[in-house]
Amino acid sequence: MFPRVLFSGTCRLPEFNSMDLAVDVIDSPARMRELSDTFREAAPPLGLVPTMGALHEGHLSLIRRAVSECASAVVSIFVNPAQFGPGEDLDTYPHTFEKDLEVCREEGVSAVYAPSVGQMYAKGFDTWVEVPSLASGLCGPCRPGHFRGVATVVAKLFSACKPDRAYFGEKDYQQLVLIRRMARDLDMGVEIVSCPTVREKDGVAMSSRNVNLRREERENSRSLSRGLFRARELLGEGEARAAVLIQAAREELTKACVEIDYVEVVDSETLAPLETVQGSCRMVMAAKIGATRLIDNISLVP
Ligand code: PAJ
Repeated sequence: MFPRVLFSGTCRLPEFNSMDLAVDVIDSPARMRELSDTFREAAPPLGLVPTMGALHEGHLSLIRRAVSECASAVVSIFVNPAQFGPGEDLDTYPHTFEKDLEVCREEGVSAVYAPSVGQMYAKGFDTWVEVPSLASGLCGPCRPGHFRGVATVVAKLFSACKPDRAYFGEKDYQQLVLIRRMARDLDMGVEIVSCPTVREKDGVAMSSRNVNLRREERENSRSLSRGLFRARELLGEGEARAAVLIQAAREELTKACVEIDYVEVVDSETLAPLETVQGSCRMVMAAKIGATRLIDNISLVP
């Protein structure tokens, strides 16, 4: 075990003030950089799990993997205003900070990085990271500026935490591919580790936004995974035409009266639409249920 280092300004949960039970909460990039250096000097690798909090089992799968594979693991909790468009759910995004800290402590996380909006985006902030070829399709048109906000905040989290590895979920597939490209293009020296989507028993992909679904909406949200599984089933029966698989998935969504944004079959790396399932590809979809927009995807292996 590496020595624990305490920094002035580190805050601690009052109910966990014993040295062994505490998790360090760091709120400034400068302090985070210092602590990261200490972690990496004591024993590499250092893992980072970027999150916006409201932690659920999907996040936990990433955290558990980071803790098991890395000498130290940092979880960042920051609801990033730059990735929410006007009229999106920034104001109603769930906040469960104290509970999240408890979860991190229980999972053996070394530190939580939780900067304020002011610390992340100081007055006059004007530097942005963009990956246009991967941001322009799928969720891009519906959420202008979203991926620019994601890429920028993740680049900033990487600068502050200096991880050897960073863990991302396949649940947000476009985000995962885009971050991997950013890390490669900008020589960030961070290995991007992808983790499978964690689903509820009934197939619904876990998401912080699921809490916003009313009972009937929650029932209808099952149609997303049903559509994906139906497409995979058809592929297993020998149907490789993307249009047929997409139609089958769309039927499931339509039956549940869900407002479809898109259903596509795309190349796993470039996200370019495909006409036939071949090589490594994915079916990706987004739909609106009431006021809640949900996304899901699945790998299609011929
Ligand atoms: P957030 O939605 O909190 O998700 C944090 C990480 O958890 C992402 O990598 C996401 O893909 C993963 N995740 C969410 N639900 C999952 C599930 N059901 N199974 C597996 N992994 C899941 O994604 C973001 O935050 C933000 O955009 C962020 C990257 C933190 C930048 O602000």
